[in-house]
Amino acid sequence: MNSALRHFTKFESKELGSKLIESALSYKADPRKDISKGTGKRIGCIFLNPSLRTRVSTQLAAQNLGMEPIVLNMDKEGWALEMKEGAIMNKGTVEHIKDAAGVLGSYFDILAIRAFPTLTNREEDINDFAFGQFVKYSGKPVISLESAIRHPLQSLADQITIQENLKNIKKPKVVLTWAPHIKAIPHAVANSFAEWTLGMGHDLTITHPEGYELDPMFTQGAKIEHDQSRALEDADFVYVKNWSSFNDYGKILSTDPKWMLTEKHLRNAPDAKVMHCLPVRRNLELSDEILDGSRSLVQRQAENRIYAAQSVISHILG
Ligand code: CP
Repeated sequence: MNSALRHFTKFESKELGSKLIESALSYKADPRKDISKGTGKRIGCIFLNPSLRTRVSTQLAAQNLGMEPIVLNMDKEGWALEMKEGAIMNKGTVEHIKDAAGVLGSYFDILAIRAFPTLTNREEDINDFAFGQFVKYSGKPVISLESAIRHPLQSLADQITIQENLKNIKKPKVVLTWAPHIKAIPHAVANSFAEWTLGMGHDLTITHPEGYELDPMFTQGAKIEHDQSRALEDADFVYVKNWSSFNDYGKILSTDPKWMLTEKHLRNAPDAKVMHCLPVRRNLELSDEILDGSRSLVQRQAENRIYAAQSVISHILG
């Protein structure tokens, strides 16, 4: 097994990123070319939170490799998990993560886990506590289906989509723009998108209202521009995403509708393609005219989730 891919939880290197993109594109051209690679192996997809794309695309990816995927909606169907070391379990939790992860590790060849942040305990979230407990106690390779701070399968699919739409652009201008939302949303997609975009060598500008600075661990090398219209000038790719405040942890500081991307916002970026990981709140985060128009890459991104997952599972299988 490639030691760089014992687990898939984050961006590792441009070399590995390029390899995963290339392999994903080859699976997209011929999804079942490695149908016997995973024969006799099982992947457990464990969800502590809701999902549409991640749940289905990961199963399809595993099936394309001949693996058997089994999904457990742990939040609804499993026992309430205790995550804390040494806890006296005399309240609501029924099963300790040590026991549950150990059991799941014995059932599967690969585990894939979704564990969102609490958005109430910054220390635990930035240390990816719940996700880390699965990795620690399962003893098997673990793929992140979105942790508290990263969503690497989404980011890999996003990079595949950028590559497919590069045309002759050598160093695309990529803009990550904050968008309004009515709920406190995690930072994982924005963090990961910044990490992968910078890691792959693209030019990244991040624009958001004051107070929405992301964790600098993910944004070193990006330009931060609080004037959205200046940030969007001449953009090749615009990634739209809401996130809650990181400094005032988990808080909504603005719902200013002026930040919602419309065609008017892109008058100085005539060729810009627009991306969003979905699910999207239409006419709150992004306008119908953009989502339903020719700039939109959102369906391509969602489709590429299959081949991103397939590429990663295949590399872990070796
Ligand atoms: N983009 C994404 O991860 O979608 P789901 O939450 O539906 O899996």
